[in-house]
Amino acid sequence: MEKILQVKDLRVRFPVHGGVLLRKIAEVKAVDGVSFDLLKGETLGVVGESGCGKSSLGRAIINILGAMNYGVEVSGQILYQDNGQTIDLAQLSRSQMRPYRSAIQMIFQDPYSSLNPRLTVRQIIEEPLRIHTRYSASERRAQVVDLLKKVGLSEDHANRYPHEFSGGQRQRIGIARALSTRPRIVIADEPVSALDVSIQAQVINLMQELQEEFDLSYIFIAHDLSVVRHISDRIAVMYLGNIVEIGPAEKVYRQPLHPYSRALLSAVPRPDPKATHEDRIPLTGDVPSPIRKPSGCAFHTRCPVVQPSCSEEVPRLEVKQDRAVACPWV
Ligand SMILES: Nc1ncnc2c1ncn2[C@@H]1O[C@H](COP(=O)(O)OP(=O)(O)OP(=O)(O)O)[C@@H](O)[C@H]1O
Ligand SMILES: [Mg+2]
Repeated sequence: MEKILQVKDLRVRFPVHGGVLLRKIAEVKAVDGVSFDLLKGETLGVVGESGCGKSSLGRAIINILGAMNYGVEVSGQILYQDNGQTIDLAQLSRSQMRPYRSAIQMIFQDPYSSLNPRLTVRQIIEEPLRIHTRYSASERRAQVVDLLKKVGLSEDHANRYPHEFSGGQRQRIGIARALSTRPRIVIADEPVSALDVSIQAQVINLMQELQEEFDLSYIFIAHDLSVVRHISDRIAVMYLGNIVEIGPAEKVYRQPLHPYSRALLSAVPRPDPKATHEDRIPLTGDVPSPIRKPSGCAFHTRCPVVQPSCSEEVPRLEVKQDRAVACPWV
């Protein structure tokens, strides 16, 4: 399978300011050396507890952190394959990034705050078309109607405002907007977390249908492994800025190897009789602050199978069986 994106040793550090002069006194290592490939047409699920760097990873890939946060430091490579050309998105300035903004789109968690309440649905979906394409007004109108139908809404909805819609419908509008520029990659940052469980499956199913139709690659971010399990081809588990395990979705879900992945799965009630229930690991305590990230393996402070050397050496991702795991003890 062809790679569409290669992320290499990506790091995101936010400055922490303090004291009377608000000098930089520390930094948050939000993403701390993440590498992975995204294949054409695949869905990579990214899971982990709150604060482990999932959103920072997504935002770094679409190169919006610099515009959002003063003083943020991003390093590493984000290699995007564009018709046989390799472009390192991490090296691009805001204006250089422009032609690629339409190729990589993001869908956000909160369908309430991510849509401008003063714009009609038509204006919301049209906006990226106006910025990124040369369509005429009538072509844009036709595109909007077409996109509304593709996400299960109708032409009548185009002149209404976001507040007139339910959460699930708003997320459909967000999806239509993201797809309007015909992206190659969509980064969905907890797209269903704010929705009722009954609506979650509908939106996920829609995203799966659209993936086929638009030939998309997805990075699908979630807290919960059970949400990404069915839509993902592979799953990456993140802890404090690092991927600790990455592999085929069903393998990671049914038989997680890293102690953190196992703990994360133990926390999820699983109706699945085939899943391994023995050796459940309780996840105790809070995630340590990424400002004072523990030395060595960052999980060692909470790990039930910790060894003396775990606080000294940072474990690398190593191929074990059918996946890669960052723990020498499994
Ligand atoms: N703009 C910012 N300035 C300073 N620190 C930030 C900023 N954005 C995120 N962080 C910090 O970076 C770390 C990673 O945050 P991030 O939002 O990427 O995590 P997350 O995995 O998406 O969490 P959640 O599941 O809660 O959405 C956290 O410690 C967070 O407090
Ligand atoms: Mg987040």
